Amino acid sequence: AGMVTLDPGFGNTASCKSEITYIDGAAGILRYRGYPIQDLAQGSSFLEVCYLLIKGRLPEAAELKEFADELRSNAELPEGMADMLDAFPRNAHPMTLLASAVNTLSAFYADSVNPQDPAQVDLATTRLLAKLPTIAARIYRNSIGEAPIAPDPSLDYVENFLNMTFGSAKPEGEVGELFAKAMDLLLILHADHEQNCSTATVRVVGSSQADLYGSVSAGINALFGPLHGGANQAVLEMLEQIREMGGDLDAFLAQVKDRESKTRLMGFGHRVYKNFDPRSREIKGLARQILDRQERPDELFELALKLEDKALADSYFTERKLYPNVDFFTGVIYRAMGFPTSMFTVLFAIGRLPGWIAHWREQLADPATRISRPRQLYIGPGERSYPGRA
Ligand code: CMC
Repeated sequence: AGMVTLDPGFGNTASCKSEITYIDGAAGILRYRGYPIQDLAQGSSFLEVCYLLIKGRLPEAAELKEFADELRSNAELPEGMADMLDAFPRNAHPMTLLASAVNTLSAFYADSVNPQDPAQVDLATTRLLAKLPTIAARIYRNSIGEAPIAPDPSLDYVENFLNMTFGSAKPEGEVGELFAKAMDLLLILHADHEQNCSTATVRVVGSSQADLYGSVSAGINALFGPLHGGANQAVLEMLEQIREMGGDLDAFLAQVKDRESKTRLMGFGHRVYKNFDPRSREIKGLARQILDRQERPDELFELALKLEDKALADSYFTERKLYPNVDFFTGVIYRAMGFPTSMFTVLFAIGRLPGWIAHWREQLADPATRISRPRQLYIGPGERSYPGRA
C-alpha cells in the first residue's frame, strides 16, 4: 500500500467521477447536467429537474407526462406504513420519522431492493419520488393532531404536497399559486449539490450494495445535522433568539466571533462556495417577492437582511470567505408559507431526493466503483503488555 494522506472531512479528495452536477466555488456557478441553475429555476418544474438529474437529459413533453403520471399513481402509502407513522410519538422530530419511514420502504417493498436488477432499481426510484411527499405530509398532520389528507391524483406534484400538508388551510388564488411556484423553485434549488455530506453518505452506503431505500434513509439522517440541512431550522431559531435578546445584532456577532463561544452564524459559510452561493441569491429574491406581499414587514426577514449586511461588512467573515448559503433565507419563506420550523429540513429532503437517487444510480453503473472504505492514520498506543489478572 502507498502513502496514506490525511484529509479531514475529505476537503481535498475526489472519491468518484460524476456527470451530474458542476460547481465552481470561486465563480459561484452551479449547473445540473450542464444547465445553469438560474435557467432551470426560470424555465423548468421540479419534476423536469428530477427527470434531468436521474436520466441525464430534459424530458420531452410526453415523457414528462408519463413520468408525472407514474408518480401520481404511486403516491399512496403502503398498507401498514400509515399505522406505523401514527404510532410514533407526536412530538418526535419529523426528520427522525422521515428517515425511519423511508428505511422501512425496503420492508414494505421487498420486491425492489436488489441493486443488480435494473427494473427493481427503477421501481424503487419511482416509489421514493412518489411517496416521500405523502410521508412528509402525514408526519406533519400527525404532529399537529389533524387527520391525514390522501394524495389527489388530479393535482401536480407540488400542489399535491401542499394540499396533503395544509388541506383547506392552504391559501387559494394568487397567493396559493405564488406559494406553489415558490415551493417548486425551492425544490429545484435544493435538488442536487454534488458530493455534499448527505449525498456522499448515500454513495458510501450504496457502495456496499445496500438497497436504494436504505441508502436514502442514511442520507436523510446525514441531512438532519445542523451543519448540513438542519441549518435551515437553525437559522430561524437563531433569528428568533436574536429577536428575544432585543435584536442586538452586534452583540450576537460578537458572540459568533468569540472563538470560545462555539456559536456559528448559521446559514453562512460553505465548503465549496467562497464568493457567493448562487442558490442564496435566487432565494433572497424569492423571499422579497413573498414577504413584500404581507401587510406588515416580516420582523425576522428584516432581521436576517440586517444580519447579512453586517456580516458581509465584517472582516471576520470576509477574511474567511463566509457568505450566506442556501439555508440563510429559506426559513423565513417556509415560515411565511405556514410550515413549522421542525418541517424545514424535511422540505430540503424532498428537494434533495432526486440528487441522492441520481448519484446512487450513477455509482451503481460506474465500473470504477469500489466499496467506500477510507483509511486512517493511527495515533493510539503501540503494543502494550496485557495486565496479568490475579
Ligand atoms: N460562523 C462563524 N464562523 C464560521 C462559520 C460560521 N457559519 N463557518 C465557518 N466559520 C469559520 C470557522 O470557524 C473557521 O475559522 P478558523 O479558520 O478561524 O478556525 C473557518 O471559518 C473555516 O471554517 P470550516 O469549519 O473549516 O469550514 P468547513 O468547510 O469545514 O464548514 C460549513 C462548512 C458549512 C459546515 C460551515 O461554514 C458552517 O458550519 N456553517 C454554518 C452551518 C450552515 O449554514 N450549514 C449549511 C451549509 S450549506 C447547505 C447545506 O448543507 O445545508
